Amino acid sequence: MLEKARERFKNKESRVKIIEGDAQNLNLEDNSFDFIIAESVIAFPDISKTVDELARVLKSDGSMIMIEMTAEQCLSDELQRKVFSLYGINEILNEEEWILKLQQAGFTRIEIINAPVDLIPYEINDINQSENINLDFYDLWDEHNNFIDQHPQLIGFRAFRCYLT
Ligand SMILES: C[S@@+](CC[C@H](N)C(=O)[O-])C[C@H]1O[C@@H](n2cnc3c(N)ncnc32)[C@H](O)[C@@H]1O
Repeated sequence: MLEKARERFKNKESRVKIIEGDAQNLNLEDNSFDFIIAESVIAFPDISKTVDELARVLKSDGSMIMIEMTAEQCLSDELQRKVFSLYGINEILNEEEWILKLQQAGFTRIEIINAPVDLIPYEINDINQSENINLDFYDLWDEHNNFIDQHPQLIGFRAFRCYLT
């Protein structure tokens, strides 16, 4: 992903700085970012550690937008095991649990952003697909799609806008 991002910004006059790091333990100053966006990232590492770190580096008057997978139903033990092994995660949160984690990290105002119903699809023209993609990844993608087809109501997503103050 970093390689793709570097490539994408290479020829652009941009002030984007790409830094590799572990979201659970960021090598970044406290209280230093005006805005954070996380698109389907926080659900994968340890969620509590990650939201604590994001709250730490966000300025007190900053804001964070995150879009993360969310359990829409109570998962049986068997389904939970399947989800954990498929996505390499240790927990899957429902909406209330996300809000609780965010509050525990210090976010005081948490809003759910409803996806607009009138989104206009448009063609993405700067996809830089890798030439050699390991065939195992296609199998994994099929496994993901099959799982979602078999359990269409089980896992959704929420978009949250969060403020510390
Ligand atoms: C489902 S993908 C989302 C990708 C992202 N939306 C994008 O467009 O690049 C999950 C991403 O989370 C990253 N990730 C997982 N654990 C992480 C961690 N501990 N620290 C930083 N990134 C992590 C993975 O490397 C992967 O790129």
